[in-house]
Amino acid sequence: MRLERLLQSQGFGSRKACRLRIEAGDVRVNGAPCLDPQAEFDTAGLTFEIDGETWAYAEHVYLALHKPAGFECTHQPQHHRSVYALLSPPLVRRGVQSVGRLDADTTGLLLFSDDGRFIHAMASPKRCVAKHYRAILKHAFDETLPKQLLAGVSLTGEPTPLAALSAQQIDAYTLALSIDQGKYHQVKRMVAAAGNRVEALHRVGFGALSLEEGSLSALAPGDCCHLGENHLALLGYRH
Ligand code: URA
Repeated sequence: MRLERLLQSQGFGSRKACRLRIEAGDVRVNGAPCLDPQAEFDTAGLTFEIDGETWAYAEHVYLALHKPAGFECTHQPQHHRSVYALLSPPLVRRGVQSVGRLDADTTGLLLFSDDGRFIHAMASPKRCVAKHYRAILKHAFDETLPKQLLAGVSLTGEPTPLAALSAQQIDAYTLALSIDQGKYHQVKRMVAAAGNRVEALHRVGFGALSLEEGSLSALAPGDCCHLGENHLALLGYRH
C-alpha cells in the first residue's frame, strides 16, 4: 500500500494532510525515515512512527475502555463529555464506534471497533454474548429479586418479558446480573420492574472478557487498550 494511503487508513487525516506530513519528514516506517508519500509498503507486520509514537498497521482495531462515570456514549454529548474524548484522535478519525452504549452514570467495560462485523456480532441478541453487570441497589436485597429477574419481567414497550441469564446476591445491597440483550436502560428498568432500584451500575465484562481478570484488570477508569487475538477469542470472535 502507498504510504500516504496507509497513513490515511490509520486515521492520520486526509490523503493530502498525510502527504504533507511525510514530505516534512515526520514519518518513519519500520524504523527508517521515509519522505516519499508514494512509496509502497507491505502492510503485514508494518510499524510506523509519527509524533513520537509508534503504531502497528492494523486493518481493523478492537479496543476496550474502562468507562468512568460522567461520559456519554455519543459523538454529540448533551450534558457530559463524550467517551470518544478518551480515545486517541487517530482511533476516532478512523471511525471506531462503541458496541452498544452505557448510560452516562454507568461505569465499566465498553468495547469499540471499526470492524462492522465485530460490532454487529457483539451486539446481536442472536449471538447471545452475555453482558455482566454489578448493580448497587437502593433497597436491601430480598430473595424474590433474582427469582423475578430470572423468570422475566415486563418492561414498557417490550412485547415479551425480559429475563436475566443469571442473577445473584453479592452482599446486602449488591446484585450481579448477566443479560444477553442491550435494550435501553435495560438493567435499571428490569430491577425497577422487580421492585428495587439501581443506585450505581458497573459493567464487569462481556462474554468471557472481564475487567477483573487478566490484562484488563490493570485498566484504570478512563484507560483504553487494544484487544489482541487472545481477547477476541474470549469474546468468541474470529476475523
Ligand atoms: N443497563 C442499564 O440500565 N444501563 C446501562 O448503562 C447498561 C445496561
